[in-house]
Amino acid sequence: MSIYDNLKNRKEKVGVIGLGYVGLPLAHAFSKSFDVIGYDIDDGKIKDYKKGIDRTNEVGNEALNNSHIQFTTEESMLGEPIFIIVTVPTPIKPDKSPDLSPIINATEMIARNMKRGAYIIYESTVYPGVTEELCIPLIEKQTGMTCGKDFFVGYSPERINPGDPVNRVENIMKIVAGTNDNVTRTIGEVYGEIIVAGIHEAPSIKVAEAAKVLENSQRDVNIGFMNEMAMILDKMNINTQDVLEAMSTKWNALGFYPGLVGGHCIGVDPYYFIYQAEQLGYHSQIISAGRKINNSVPEFIVQSLVKRMIQNNINVNNSRVLVFGLAFKENTADIRNSKVLDIIDLLNDYNINVDIIDDVVEPVTSKKFNHIDINEIQSDQYDALVYAVDHNSFKKLGDIERFIKDTGIVMDLKNRFVERANVWKL
Ligand SMILES: NC(=O)c1ccc[n+]([C@@H]2O[C@H](COP(=O)([O-])OP(=O)(O)OC[C@H]3O[C@@H](n4cnc5c(N)ncnc54)[C@H](O)[C@@H]3O)[C@@H](O)[C@H]2O)c1
Repeated sequence: MSIYDNLKNRKEKVGVIGLGYVGLPLAHAFSKSFDVIGYDIDDGKIKDYKKGIDRTNEVGNEALNNSHIQFTTEESMLGEPIFIIVTVPTPIKPDKSPDLSPIINATEMIARNMKRGAYIIYESTVYPGVTEELCIPLIEKQTGMTCGKDFFVGYSPERINPGDPVNRVENIMKIVAGTNDNVTRTIGEVYGEIIVAGIHEAPSIKVAEAAKVLENSQRDVNIGFMNEMAMILDKMNINTQDVLEAMSTKWNALGFYPGLVGGHCIGVDPYYFIYQAEQLGYHSQIISAGRKINNSVPEFIVQSLVKRMIQNNINVNNSRVLVFGLAFKENTADIRNSKVLDIIDLLNDYNINVDIIDDVVEPVTSKKFNHIDINEIQSDQYDALVYAVDHNSFKKLGDIERFIKDTGIVMDLKNRFVERANVWKL
């Protein structure tokens, strides 16, 4: 009997470790066909999931309630699954080097508990080499077992896009790779149960690791180019959106736009690749430049706003700015590494009072801004409006310019507003 058959007839289980934006939808998808154990170190999160409260909004409370995932914080339960998927965070440290501690902790925990014959598949985004040069030796050392004989390892990058109703786990092509062809095939067969878009068998684990970190780096660099273009065009008094519209008439236009790059994927993953390149004696130039430019966009926006406020005779000190969106991108409740937070810090530096509207994220209490309800706002209140995140829920608000004074300025980072003298577009 294959691993797949044993999962299908429920003699074996899948385990998912780290139930966040990636792990929870994955556990849910597998739970439609297989028995699934969902493990997380966060007790509060597990309690919520058991009550059917989906903090990520990726599965939905009703679907979570109806699922049969066995949620746990009890690590000994990881002795049960034959197919263990690791979806823990891979953040960066303050110096931007990879923080591999969650992946190391999860690997050591698996090693303490796993059964012989288990498959361990890493989905967390890493640089090429982490799975084979760090994780496998850790497991072998701790268990005394041999990879490829007593247990099996693979890598399958996660490519979901939280908040996106179209590109879901099931309909994104899944890259899989194992330590040899048989392992790759077995992993592909199991994922094939939930992935309708198809399975791509990569020739090695390192190829699969590189593919993920580079597809995000590629995106970062392309957005960086657009942001640099926007900064230069602004100095030339040329409208970026007009240029983009004209450029996009060519058949090979790439379809990228300037904007804030936050969150914990596009704004983080390139640092993993840069780090590993550096270890090998290569100093990244293009990928590093993309990071540098994208990190400077909040400053560019705030400087452009303050300049226009001064030009409009608005007293910057103690002025009031209304910001639409706190999340790191559209239609997600996730505010981690949101560049809007950088914009707020920079506005605070000028002694500007900031109110935030965001009905997708949980209410946030902060000394830096007031997270307010749209119904609390009266017309003609603000000196400027920063439209930073284009949540679907904002679309039904109608004329949001009514909130600013006659002299007020609109900073349109999402190309929502009609071009006019008081509207600045990124
Ligand atoms: N969110 C995305 O858009 C996205 C998309 C593709 C890939 N990824 C990658 O997937 C991975 C997970 O990302 P995420 O957004 O789901 O992160 P997340 O922070 O939402 O979820 C990770 C979960 O892992 C838990 N955790 C941390 N350490 C643990 C440990 N030692 N054992 C068990 N659980 C642990 C945390 O409590 C958390 O619930 C990252 O490597 C990320 O780069 C994320």
